[in-house]
Amino acid sequence: MKYAIGIDLGTSSVKILLVDQDGNVHSSVSRDYPLIQEKPGYSEQNPEEWVEKSIQSLKQLVDESGVKAEDIEGLSFSGQMHGLVLLDSEHQIIRNAILWNDTRTTPQCREIEEKLGERLLEITKNPALEGFTLPKILWVQENEPENLEKTSVFLLPKDYLRFRLTGEIHAEYSDAAGTLLLDIENKSWSGDMLQAFGLNSDICPPLVESGDFIGTILPEIAEATGLTTSVKVFAGGADNACGAIGAGILSEGQALCSIGTSGVFLSYENDSSRDYGGRVHLFNHSQKDSYYSMGVTLSAGHSFSWFKNTFAENESFDQLVKDASESPAGANGLLFTPFLVGERTPYADAKIRGTFTGIDSSHQKRDFTRSVLEGIVFSINETVEIFRDSGKKVDTVISIGGGAKSDLWLQLQADIFNAKVIKLKSEQGPGMGAAMLAAAALNWYPSLKECADAFLSEAASYEPVPENVQRYQELFKLYKEIYPQTAVINHGLFEFKQNQ
Ligand code: XUL
Repeated sequence: MKYAIGIDLGTSSVKILLVDQDGNVHSSVSRDYPLIQEKPGYSEQNPEEWVEKSIQSLKQLVDESGVKAEDIEGLSFSGQMHGLVLLDSEHQIIRNAILWNDTRTTPQCREIEEKLGERLLEITKNPALEGFTLPKILWVQENEPENLEKTSVFLLPKDYLRFRLTGEIHAEYSDAAGTLLLDIENKSWSGDMLQAFGLNSDICPPLVESGDFIGTILPEIAEATGLTTSVKVFAGGADNACGAIGAGILSEGQALCSIGTSGVFLSYENDSSRDYGGRVHLFNHSQKDSYYSMGVTLSAGHSFSWFKNTFAENESFDQLVKDASESPAGANGLLFTPFLVGERTPYADAKIRGTFTGIDSSHQKRDFTRSVLEGIVFSINETVEIFRDSGKKVDTVISIGGGAKSDLWLQLQADIFNAKVIKLKSEQGPGMGAAMLAAAALNWYPSLKECADAFLSEAASYEPVPENVQRYQELFKLYKEIYPQTAVINHGLFEFKQNQ
């Protein structure tokens, strides 16, 4: 039997899967690394930690798996998107990486909008959001000009890790799409975007496809990990693109709901022609020449963990979900908005904050828990609504992540999305998508689609219950009123807190 490795370089940890030619996960290893948050809104990491923890994990994987190193043929990556890594002419790291969840760049986003106007959407298909890479480059240009002067090339997180394993510098389209510097349709760095801010095109790494062969691993990495120097390294993709591949989202009509720390709803696109007016993101997929559109709820699973840690520290998630299933659909008239760290889709508002609305003395803890779960899905449903309003059909959704771990949450998704929801057998997330990129590139399968057919299968499906659908449609109208009715108050409270 031969094996491939999928490395998922996440925000809190690196997770590595060893997958065989039939798609079985032989073993997996994970190691955490910290966020560096020097000021409110700042979120950084030391790229050296990604490399160190990945090498340690690879070594553990090889040592403990019992698999012969010669049987491990290839390796690919999934990575947290948008993060900015700056390298000098010796390819040394200049400063910590600024991550996707860092929100210091609001002024730079306004600057991008002002300079580019409508051209921004035409070229990049996306609005300027704090998380994206260009605003971070502009922040460095304005606040640390000496660091930008020293820069010979910028890289995205998993592209930096790949550089350290192979010595080769590249970006690939699915992650480059999240920089606001890529011409999404023409698949090239945009001269217009670079010129608008006086950026030298040399800082952009050469572009490749996600399935492209980059090289073999360096001898010192082979020595440190126990892998052989013949392991083939393939470019890999953005975590959302790899999450989509790992769930088989590879043709028109397929959609994915992933509830992790953040919540993502994404839909496959054959081309980049559908006009969402920037209300959802449009990125190049890691399957060649295709795309996906996507909306993000910043605080999805995070809202549930916050709720548990704050109000039910000694209860398990399972117990909380069980109690919530005893509260009726609509949580007895209690609504929760999950804007704990601001919101992306559809509001793009870093200062909005969450609410419980409609509290009365009949409400019990189980109603609060249920309203948190429902509020997270309502928020994701705002993306589903944008898709449907733009003429996209959403009738079947693959659900992955924490949201696919309980029957209640899966049924809530079916009822609120008014769509059939499918749970997968042995769902592994973006790491599996990365391993599948390697499996297809190693020619184990003629295409990613055929690899997905062999690797993935359905565990259960959930149909919408008509009376719940009707109840949630009524409630969703009220849910959508909360943002406009509370924005001014929340912005005021945000300023108040900042000035304390
Ligand atoms: C996508 C985004 C997040 C990160 C998380 O635009 O910001 O989903 O990719 O790693």
